[in-house]
Amino acid sequence: MKIKTESSAKKKTGLLCGFVLEDSDKVIGLPKFDTKATSAINQSLKDMEGKLGKTSIIPLSGKNSVQRILLAGIGKKENMTNDTIRLVSGKIAQKARELKLKEFSVIAPPNFIAEPTSAVTQIIEGSKMALYKFERFKTEKVESSPDLTIIVSKSNEILKAIKAAEIVAEGAIFAKSIANLPPNECTPATLANFAKNMSKRNKMKCSVISEPDLKKRGFGGISAVGQGSSNQPKLIILEHMRGGGSDKPIVLVGKAVTFDTGGISLKPGASMDEMKFDKCGGCTVLGIMKAISELKTPINVVGIVPSVENMPDGKSYRPGDIIKMYGGKTAEILNTDAEGRLILADAMAYGERHYSPKAIIDFATLTGACIVALGTNVAAIVSNDERLTKKINDSSKRTAEEIWELPLNQDYMDMIKSDVADMKNVGIGRAAGTIMAAAFLRNAVEKTPWAHIDIAGVAWTQGATKEKPYNPKGATGFGVRLALDYLQSL
Ligand code: BES
Ligand code: MG
Ligand code: ZN
Repeated sequence: MKIKTESSAKKKTGLLCGFVLEDSDKVIGLPKFDTKATSAINQSLKDMEGKLGKTSIIPLSGKNSVQRILLAGIGKKENMTNDTIRLVSGKIAQKARELKLKEFSVIAPPNFIAEPTSAVTQIIEGSKMALYKFERFKTEKVESSPDLTIIVSKSNEILKAIKAAEIVAEGAIFAKSIANLPPNECTPATLANFAKNMSKRNKMKCSVISEPDLKKRGFGGISAVGQGSSNQPKLIILEHMRGGGSDKPIVLVGKAVTFDTGGISLKPGASMDEMKFDKCGGCTVLGIMKAISELKTPINVVGIVPSVENMPDGKSYRPGDIIKMYGGKTAEILNTDAEGRLILADAMAYGERHYSPKAIIDFATLTGACIVALGTNVAAIVSNDERLTKKINDSSKRTAEEIWELPLNQDYMDMIKSDVADMKNVGIGRAAGTIMAAAFLRNAVEKTPWAHIDIAGVAWTQGATKEKPYNPKGATGFGVRLALDYLQSL
C-alpha cells in the first residue's frame, strides 16, 4: 500500500471517504458537489446519523472525478477515544479492498477531532495495519491492497507525521509478519537472520551469540531452556546509536520462544499450537528496532532478543535442576514451563551490565495468569520505577495500546525465595502468577529503572479478543506503537 497526499478532495478517485460526527449534517472537510450528488449525500447523512462504525456509500454520476463517496460515522465528539479514527480508518480501508479498488482517498479531519493523537497518524496506522494479511502459506494469493491518498492541507509538520506513521505502522506489520510464522519455519536461527538482514538494510549493528558461547559466557537461563531442542538458542542484539556517545541507551528486551511446549513440564494438548506466538515479545522488539532505525531518531536504543525453543527431550532441563543465571544468581527450576523469565532475566542482566542503560523495558508473553487477571485487550505492566511507568502510561493513552499496572512489593519478592538456591522459577501455588514472573525478573536488575510488560493476552487475537479492523486474525504487534511513541517522546 502506497500513501500519497493531496490538498484538494476533487481529484480523480474511485472512493472518497469522509468522517461524520453523530447527528451532524455535514461530512468533515467534504467539498461541494453538484445538486444531484448533494441531495444523495444529505439523504445518506440523515440515514446513518453519523453513528460510530456505520458507513454509507454513494455512487456519483460519470461526470464527477470522484466515482463514489463513503461516509464513515465516528459517533459523538465527547465519546471519541484515541482509537476512534484508527478503528474507522481500518474499516474504510477494508471496504476499499472489498470493492477491489486500486486506490482510495480519505479526508483527514482537523486534529482537534482526533487529539491528542494526530488524525493522519491514526488514518495511516488504521488502514495499513487493517490491510495486512498473513498469506505466505496460501498457494492462491487473496486480494491486493489499494493505495491511499490522504486529503490534507500540507505543512512540514503534517508531512513529517505521515512519514513517521508509515514507518511505525510498517514496524508493527513487520512484527506481526514474523510472529505469525509457524514454528517449523521460524527457529531462533531464523529470527537471528531476520535481525541481521534488517540491520544491514537500516544501518544498525547486529550481533548474535550462539552456543557454546552462551554457556561459556554465563547465560545459564538461555542455555538451560534451549538445551532440549535441536534448534539451538540465540541471543540477538541490535544497536541503534544515534544519540551520541555519552547518552545512555534505553534497553528493550523481548521474549522469543519460537515454540513453547512447556518442556518436561509438558503443556496439555489443547491450543498448544498457539504457543507459536510465544515469540511475540521478541518480534515486537525487532519491529521497534526496524522502525526506530528508519525514523533515524537521535537517541540510543539497544534491542535484546533471547530466543529459544522449549522442548521435551533427553537433553532437556528438568524440574529440580539448579542453574546459574547471567550475573551469578542461582535459580531452582520447579517448572520447565516457566521458561520465559529465565531467558529474559539473562538478557536483562546482560543489558544492564553492558550498557548501563537509562531504562530497561521488556515485552513478553509471560503468563497465562495475565489473561485471567486482565483478559485479552489489556496488557500488564509491573515496574520498579514510577516515573518510567508514568511515561509508558502516557504513550499507552496516545497509542490506544492499553496497559494496567500490577504491584510488586517485598512480600511478593519473598514468595520466589528457594530453600536450595537464591530463587525459584515459580511462586506459591497459583497465587499472583503474573507478579511472580515479574518478581523473578526484578532480581535481574540492580539499579536500573525497569518496566515489564506482559503481553500474554494481547499479542495475538484469541477467543475473547475485541475485534478491531486493524488487528486481523493472528499476531497483533502489540507494543510496537506504544514503545515507539515512548522513544520518540524522549
Ligand atoms: N508462554 C507461557 C505463557 C502463556 C500461556 C502465554 C498462555 C499466553 C497464553 C509461559 O511460558 C508459561 O507457560 N507460563 C506458565 C508459568 C507457570 C508454569 C508458573 C503459565 O502461565 O502457566
Ligand atoms: Mg512456558
Ligand atoms: Zn512461554
